[in-house]
Amino acid sequence: MEQYAIRGGNPLVGDVEIAGSKNAVLPILAACAMTDETVYIDNVPDVWDVKTMLDAMQGIGVTVSRANRHKAMLNAQDINNLIVENEAIKKIRASYYLLGALLGRYKMAQVVLPGGCDIGSRAIDQHLKGFRALGAEVVIEHGLIKAKARRLVGSHIYMDGVSVGATINIMMAAALAEGRTIIENAAKEPHVVDVANFLSSMGANIKGAGTDVVRIKGVSRLHGTEYTIIPDQIEAGTFMFAAAITKGDVTVKNVIPKHLESITAKLLEIGCEVKEKDDCIRVVSSKPLMHTQVKTLPYPGFPTDMQPQITAALALAEGTSIVTESIFENRFKYVDELTRMGAGIKVEGNTAIINGVEKYTGASITVPDLRAGAALVIAALAAEGCTMVDDIKYIERGYEDFHIKLRNLGAQIELVETEKDYQKFKLKTG
Ligand code: EPZ
Repeated sequence: MEQYAIRGGNPLVGDVEIAGSKNAVLPILAACAMTDETVYIDNVPDVWDVKTMLDAMQGIGVTVSRANRHKAMLNAQDINNLIVENEAIKKIRASYYLLGALLGRYKMAQVVLPGGCDIGSRAIDQHLKGFRALGAEVVIEHGLIKAKARRLVGSHIYMDGVSVGATINIMMAAALAEGRTIIENAAKEPHVVDVANFLSSMGANIKGAGTDVVRIKGVSRLHGTEYTIIPDQIEAGTFMFAAAITKGDVTVKNVIPKHLESITAKLLEIGCEVKEKDDCIRVVSSKPLMHTQVKTLPYPGFPTDMQPQITAALALAEGTSIVTESIFENRFKYVDELTRMGAGIKVEGNTAIINGVEKYTGASITVPDLRAGAALVIAALAAEGCTMVDDIKYIERGYEDFHIKLRNLGAQIELVETEKDYQKFKLKTG
């Protein structure tokens, strides 16, 4: 099993190209099943979750081909199965998007209950509430979510909580329902807007995405399209915090600075310099990091997917910082691993109280989930000595070439398979 061997201490310096957004491309791929015409998608990140989604779609008869690593072509005219239950798809959260997509087009779908990172209870009641409001009968049986409808009819849906997944799923099904749907208290994340733009490019009629009221006028069919996925806000934010924590100077390229405003604001607060251009942001960290307070919130608030990365940085900041997680109840599991590296963090309920320490020291650590994994890696890059990072499969779910991009910025990081390789790495870099 592969692990990362890391020797910390090098400031990260240089430019890094940001890939397409994982959380936008997953629903967009699912939505390709909503037309019998060919769809071309560009800026597809080459990550494990995307491969899994494409495999599942091929499993129900979608033809998938790739012009290159980042361009996919999908054609769903020969879908032959509306039951999605392959083994791998169970492991990704985004499997549930096939429910909205297939229900919209075929008025029937069965998809295994979603998996994904273990960061909280991750209910799906709002998805089901939305489908039912559109007229579908939905049951959970034998590990499958089964939805079917004679007709889908537009409806006025008030979401009990802000949910990215439920907003997107309902938007997809409603795009092919009869009449008008209004989703109130909708999620406003950039990837919700990207999915709405994608569906619109296929002929859907969607207004208000990016605000908390989304209005959809159903159409009878969708057509093929060509579409480019937006840059990954969280990958960009991760590299921005990697610059902060390693006292580096990193420019993230191919980003939409507007999507990164909450992240930029926190970097400024903790003492970094941040310079924005049209499609890139430079982060320079030359002063000691300062403490701050942060609470994760739906967009445009500070993203929960950046919570571990900011915590890793604040653990090296002067004074006491407070991080409150308000989206997922189980997203501090990585704190024990940071503690092995010398961090002074106490978790009480959904709050981490962080007493900054002068340095991390390398240790053997295990990744509990995707974003926590990225945070542990950037902590290791700032640590004195070597760190061995286990269970990096979680990181590969959502970051393309993570260690290669870090190495291109000057990090000492390698994939190793055995203890012997790790010892060799230590000797080589020592
Ligand atoms: C998406 O998860 C992302 N996943 C997550 O990315 C991200 O952390 C999250 O949105 C928040 O931004 C994908 O896009 C595949 P939610 P999702 O529905 O859709 C509760 C990453 O690291 N809720 O917005 O599952 C839920 O329990 C990840 O890339 C309900 O109660 O998130 C949570 O507390 C991990 N009922 C809150 O809402 C529901 O029906 C927000 O969840 C749905 C959600």
